[in-house]
This record gives sequence, C-alpha cells and structure tokens, in this order.
Amino acid sequence: MCGIIGFTGNIEAKKLLIDGLARLEYRGYDSAGIALQYKDQPFQIVKKAGKVETLRQFCEDLDSSSTCGIGHTRWATHGGVTDENAHPHLVGRVALIHNGIIENYHELIEKFNLEHMVKSETDTEVAAAVINHFYKGDPYYAIRQAMKHMIGSFAFCIMFQDVPDKIFAIRNVSPMVAAHFADGSIIASDLTAIIQYSQTYFIVPEYHIVTLTKDDIKVETLDGQMAKPESLTVSWNIEAAQKGGYEHYMMKEIMEQPEVIRGTVMPRIQDGLPSLLSDGVDDEILKDIHEIRVIACGTAMHAGMIFKSMVEPMMRIPVTVSIASEYRYDSPIIDAHTLVIAVSQSGETIDTLEALRLSKSYGAKTLSVVNVKGSTIARESDYVVYTHAGPEIAVASTKAYTVQIATLYVIGCRIGLVKGCISEEAARKFIGDLLDVIPAIQQVLDNREEIQNASICLLEAQDAFFIGRGIDYTLSLEGALKLKEISYIHAEAYAAGELKHGTIALITPGIPVIAIATQRKVFNKTISNIKEVSSRGAYVLLITEADLRVPEEICQQQLTIPEVDDLFSVFPAAVVLQLIAYYTSYGRGLDVDMPRNLAKSVTVE
Ligand code: M6R
Repeated sequence: MCGIIGFTGNIEAKKLLIDGLARLEYRGYDSAGIALQYKDQPFQIVKKAGKVETLRQFCEDLDSSSTCGIGHTRWATHGGVTDENAHPHLVGRVALIHNGIIENYHELIEKFNLEHMVKSETDTEVAAAVINHFYKGDPYYAIRQAMKHMIGSFAFCIMFQDVPDKIFAIRNVSPMVAAHFADGSIIASDLTAIIQYSQTYFIVPEYHIVTLTKDDIKVETLDGQMAKPESLTVSWNIEAAQKGGYEHYMMKEIMEQPEVIRGTVMPRIQDGLPSLLSDGVDDEILKDIHEIRVIACGTAMHAGMIFKSMVEPMMRIPVTVSIASEYRYDSPIIDAHTLVIAVSQSGETIDTLEALRLSKSYGAKTLSVVNVKGSTIARESDYVVYTHAGPEIAVASTKAYTVQIATLYVIGCRIGLVKGCISEEAARKFIGDLLDVIPAIQQVLDNREEIQNASICLLEAQDAFFIGRGIDYTLSLEGALKLKEISYIHAEAYAAGELKHGTIALITPGIPVIAIATQRKVFNKTISNIKEVSSRGAYVLLITEADLRVPEEICQQQLTIPEVDDLFSVFPAAVVLQLIAYYTSYGRGLDVDMPRNLAKSVTVE
C-alpha cells in the first residue's frame, strides 16, 4: 500500500528512484512521483497520476546530476487519483513521501492553522505542513515535535530544502528497510527496491529517526539515543523478483508452485514425520492447545479455511477462522490454551497485525505463517513458521496460497501427532500424500493449454458462479476471488447444496458455473447439484479427478486433475482455478499483475 524509496549517494538518483519505484509498483499504482535535490536550487518535483512508466517519460528531460532524492508510488486513500494528490508533497522547506494514514489530519489542520498551506486532499500534505510548522533549521527538532501530534500509521521519508544530501525517515507500523552500500544509502518500503544494491539491510525500528547520508545511515531514538538495528541478509536474489521470461509475474508465480511447496515442506520433515523444531516450535507448546483460531485476510484467510476443513475432521481440534478486520471488534473468546495462527504473505497486513496484537493481549499463544522474513507480523508473533515462496509480486496471490496451505497442513499434522489425535503411521501417510501434490500440480501446469481453451467460455461473461461441497466449496471462495480480482467478472462462490435456497434464481441460460467435484464422500450429491444448474441452462465447466466417473451431459467442459487423496485435491484444483483466472484476465486484455483499485500489501485499515 504505497511504495516509498529514498536515496543519497554518489550515483544518479533519478534513475535509481524510478527503477526502484517500478519494482515497488505492486504496492500501489494510482500515481507516482519523485523529488530531487540539486545544489543551491529548489527541489525538483515531478508527480503524475498513472503508472511509473508515465512518470519515467515525464522525467526524461530532467537534469540527471542529482544524487539525492525520494520517490513514491501511490495507492489512493485520502483524495482521488490526481497529479496534485500524488506524492512527494512540498510544504515550505519540507518535501515528504508517506505510506499509511494520518488519522487526525483534520484536527492537525485546525490545531496549527494549516488551511492556507494545504492544496491537495491528502493527509500526507498535512503531515508535511506539520513538520514544516516546527522546522526552524533543526530537522530532528521538527520531526520530534511533529511526532507528538500525529496519530496513525506512517512511513515517512523527508528532505529539508536547506539540508543538502540528507534524507530523514521515521515510521510507525508501516514498513521500511534500509541499507548502506558502496554508492550510498538507500531506504524503501520493501526489499525489492534494495536488493539490487545490497544483500544486507536492516528493518527501520518504529519511532526512530533515521538519517541517510552518502557515507552512512544513523539511527536514533526520539530522545537522541543512538541505536544499532540488527543487520539481516536477504535469502533471495534480484532474479526472484523479476519475471524470468514470463509475460506476467502471476504466470511465473503460478509456475513456481511445485518448487516452492517442496522448498517449504521438505525442511520440516524428519524421518517421514512433520517437525517444527527448526522453527523453534517445540511439542510442549502444542500439547496444551485446546482450540485454534486463524486470523487473516483475503486469500490468506481462504488458506486458513482449508486448514479448518482438514484439521477438524482429522484431528478433532476446534478451529475457527476469522476475517481479521472483523475479529478485532468481535470480543473473541480466547485464552492461554488457544493457539492463534496469523496467516499473511506480506506479514504487514494491518488488520491481521492488529488482530494478532489483540490476541496477545488476551493471553493467547500466537504463531504466524508468513512469507516475508522479518516482517512486522513475523516479529510480533510468539512463533513464526516461514513459507519459502520467495517474493510474490503479482497482486493476485497464487503461490503464497498453496504454500500457506502446505505449511498449515504440516503444522496441523504436528499438532495432531503431539496431541495423540493421529498415529505416527497416519502422520507418515499424511506427509507422503502432501509431497504427492508436487507432481500433481506439475501435471496441471503441463496441461495449461487445455485450461486456457476451457477459459474461453468466460471471456464475455458478466457473472460466474463457483460451486462445490466441503473443501471444494472452501476452494470455490478462492476461485471466485481470483477471477473477480483480475478479470472484473462478478463471481460468486456457493456451497453447491445451498444454491437451491435462493441463489439458483440467478442461474440463467448460458451463465458459466465452475463446478468443483473432487470429494469422494459427497461426489454424488455434488453431481445432483450440478444437474440442478445444468437443467436450467447453465454452462458448466467441471473440475474433477481423473478417476471419478461423471455422468454424461452434465457439463459442457471438463478439466481433470490427477488422482490424489480428498484432503489434497485442493492443491492441483487451486492451480486450475488460478490458471482460469489468469487466462480470462489475459484474454480480456486486462492488466493481469496490477488490477484496478488494488495493491499488493494492505497496510491501511
Ligand atoms: O499479505 P497478506 O497475505 O496478509 O494479504 C492478504 C490479502 O490482502 C491478499 O491475500 C489478497 O486477498 C490477495 N490480493 C488476493 O489475491
């Protein structure tokens, strides 16, 4: 949710900032802008509604001699998508970029009489005006004073007109990482913008003032004590964050699934059994769990729902899955015997983070399943089990979803084992079945042309339904989310048996229904439900397993996935749904990786 970058050093800032913004663009792509410092001159600010490439064109004629500047790519919250609302904002001697929300910006305008200073509709410009209000030549004083008045989440990079070659930064909640390398110092919302220059970095601590100069980076507390944040090393390289020959990140990430599931699961198998010891989660912690709560948003929450569908019947441990943004206001009934699992690819989703904090305040044990190393959710959880999916850049989450399910399955199996809910033999079989999904997914990927052809039925659709029972229904929710997110087709997921209680009224001749029928124990019932829609003229695209016998004339098209145990069909079937969404979006000529109105990491409530 907004990408920010700052650089000061010995090399051209303009190119570095715009290249960095292109890498951060997945965080928000409504508008982009840069501010550059030039010796004894006012800041040069260029900002434009639209993508980073538009900004790049507008910056072509800009003098390249500047070696210090800040850049921003925006996901609009306060104020529409206009040039004026784009960052950086300049007020008096202060140029500033921001990720987050200043909640009390109206009060701040009144408190400091800032009406005449503020031209845009943004909370960010107010923040710049407040810092400018306190700026009398000492940046540290101005930042400290401003911090006393601002409420909200923020990551700021700030330049002062009369302080050459220095960038100041401060944050609360919203993430920032920084690194010093041979050519200077760099700070950004995430590693994708930094990794090209440095493999080592640090996470900017909250409420610390960071000063970047070309020679070093200084970090100090608000009362002036020097701090030394831990230096971390990136575990992936720049290639992992590039398209690797694919037209879109989404396709690349879909294709990576067999490899990343293997890379996540294998290190957690010992002697054929699941083990979380290398994650620091020992059995004593798991033994005394009475119930599990999963908190997450969007696709990550759908992964949690699959976990519930596996754990409850198999382990007989109660699992509740909550939408993080609702959970916070639900007064959840949890205690020290509850294991709260926060699932998040980015590890920065604010609703999940706040739900995690609430859970801790109730005394629950917290464990997170997170993809981004060192992210806030990971750091604030009692335990963290990292997924090793590598960077996920496409806004539509794909590899993160299947790898989250695989990780949750390992966790669930370990809990079941230590609590005596399943035998060692059953756990071994479970892990064997889990590893079998890797070739099953590969087979689906190898057949992707068939899925592309099947998706043609959706290209002109305005509405679509996804139906299934049990795990297939839970997976339908994700299939529908994926399709609507990137193809803009109104898509609904329904429990197949529930349609006839109202929603079947929406089934009209030709409407596409994607029916998922992989669960043996409810297979015949699902088939009956499919008949109910096909007899009303729906165009049925059926996803089922190769060995399941489907009655003739029940569907217009059929896609089969390899035969796997019922609990594991979700993996290959999820990949089919991802590919359907991808090819539909692509076939409709849409921006697959950066769908409208969205951003990758949702750091505002
Ligand atoms: O980073 P997180 O996993 O916490 O993100 C949660 C959701 O915002 C995310 O899964 C979102 O629903 C995806 N864009 C869906 O494809």
